[in-house]
Amino acid sequence: MRTNYCGRIDKAYIGQTVTLKGWVNKRRDLGGVIFIDLRDREGILQVVIDPDTQSAFENASQLRNEFCVEIIGLVRARPDSQINKEMRTGEVELLGKEVNIINRAPALPLDWNQENSEEQRLKYRYLDLRRPIMTERLVFRSKVTAAVRRFLEDNEFLDIETPILTAATPEGARDYLVPSRTHKGEFFALPQSPQLFKQLLMMSGMDKYYQIVKCFRDEDLRADRQPEFTQIDIETSFLDADGVMAITESLIRDLFQKMLQVDLGEFPRMSYAEAMKRYGSDKPDLRNPLEIVDVDHIVKDIEFKVFSGPANDEEGRVSVICVPNGASLSRKQLDNYAEFVGIYGAKGLAWMKINDAASPAEGVQSPVAKFFDAQSIEKLIDATQAKNGDILLFGADKYNVVTEALGALRLKLGKDFDLLEGEWKPLWVVDFPMFEKVDGHLYALHHPFTAPRDNDLNALKASPEKALSNAYDMVLNGVELGGGSVRIHDMNMQALVFDLLGISEQEAQEKFGFLLEALKYGTPPHAGLAFGLDRLVMLMLGADSIRDVMAFPKTTTAACPLTGAPGKANPEQLKELAIATLTESQANPSTTGDE
Ligand code: AMO
Ligand code: AMP
Repeated sequence: MRTNYCGRIDKAYIGQTVTLKGWVNKRRDLGGVIFIDLRDREGILQVVIDPDTQSAFENASQLRNEFCVEIIGLVRARPDSQINKEMRTGEVELLGKEVNIINRAPALPLDWNQENSEEQRLKYRYLDLRRPIMTERLVFRSKVTAAVRRFLEDNEFLDIETPILTAATPEGARDYLVPSRTHKGEFFALPQSPQLFKQLLMMSGMDKYYQIVKCFRDEDLRADRQPEFTQIDIETSFLDADGVMAITESLIRDLFQKMLQVDLGEFPRMSYAEAMKRYGSDKPDLRNPLEIVDVDHIVKDIEFKVFSGPANDEEGRVSVICVPNGASLSRKQLDNYAEFVGIYGAKGLAWMKINDAASPAEGVQSPVAKFFDAQSIEKLIDATQAKNGDILLFGADKYNVVTEALGALRLKLGKDFDLLEGEWKPLWVVDFPMFEKVDGHLYALHHPFTAPRDNDLNALKASPEKALSNAYDMVLNGVELGGGSVRIHDMNMQALVFDLLGISEQEAQEKFGFLLEALKYGTPPHAGLAFGLDRLVMLMLGADSIRDVMAFPKTTTAACPLTGAPGKANPEQLKELAIATLTESQANPSTTGDE
């Protein structure tokens, strides 16, 4: 029987005989002595096998990388010259007395000494996960979920499961559908989140709910988005926004303290409007010191229409980012930045190099300098606090175009100029608008069950676009870690919000009739939040993508190279479900040229 994990053997075990089981991480033959790095979940231990233990030596000679083996031996101190302080086991080694091969392995399809393609890593994920860094991430993730559960249980939250085969929950993505065999032609939707069920649980009197739960969203994938991901989902009765923010903030603070010995301190709060204005994002990375500064008032009367136009337009915006030491940027680099903001719809990126801030008239260099008099340049320098050697980069357009373009540019400049300061910068973003208007339609900025700040039906009806919601997002280092809101607990308010969103009464009844019905029966005020667990673990570990902290993630095209999913269904199964499939050209006649 195994007596210990390799990775936990240290000086305390010197003199003990232990039985270890694990994988051969590396084997070296050093003139008659064989060294094996034996690896298990907890780490690596050096094993030495002398030729005088004959059968152990013979077996050890056969070992190759990734064989699964049992080794029994004596723990001893390493000679001083061989101590490796970097490793937990680096002061000791195992003198192998018995080596048993449990299972052999051919050369791996992954070469751990070089970068493997993600496709290949995912195809052989079980081998990729043997890499110590991947194993460590999964061990860490398990400790995080355990700590989350402990915290929530200590705070009297109840862990309650909700269905996976359910009706659609609108969180803004496409649904994954599952056909029903017993109701032909009908479909379940996989939950985009347990939103409605957790609200129903409050109506059931459960008072404090949590669940670490899979959510499913068919959306375009990115480094921090997967089609199935995990939420730490929370809902409470009788707590207001401040109450939910307080408890969820202490959960995150507690986690960082326990897992990373980091004190995050109290999280600042910032309104959505301020975040958009200063950082061009509703999830600002506050490690980045660059800010967007509005200069509409300075360029209102200049000759350059590209600037004065938006400056005089109520829906326009003219703003500047001042980049410290940016005057060294070449024409080519500036052209690249102009191209970059073009992705976000910006029509150009005017610039002004500040060579001598003390003499504004001749001290700047810029393709638009001729439109500015000395006084206006002085005002620009004043507004942006620009110093000699800095550069000002301008955006002028509709408010949203400038905000988005300069918001993205700010992040890029932060990286390119290596400007990030401090390790952890959490904040709450609050005071979101209830709705955003696109092409004359109102859309919910969060989900349609979010309560307005002002619980006033008439005010909301009169000017829905001005209404703020009682929602809050937790942001850490530019990543939206979680979001939540106070919910509507009044039937009439819910009906009005559906109405404003253009959901007809009939559609509201069909889709959410059960919710409207439930709201009739003494619904308590309730509020909650959900964290993205994958994102949380990614940030805590400094990983680049949530795929690196998930055991079996999907590719960016939402497929699984390991299992081959998604795959074709067998015709019998489809028949049973009364489903016929279209060919690509039948499904998309316009893209394939067919009519
Ligand atoms: P929301 O849609 O903001 O809110 O989701 C909550 C958190 O889940 C994470 N997240 C994702 N993580 C990985 N891949 C994805 N595709 C993905 N989508 C979201 C984010 C996000 O902050 N029901 C509401 C919560 C509530 O109001 O209580 C909801 O789902 O970290
Ligand atoms: P032009 O007069 O079009 O040659 O533009 C002069 C400078 O203004 C160039 O550096 C352009 O990149 C820049 N520019 C043009 N349109 C905009 C805009 N909407 N916002 C910011 N800069 C712009």
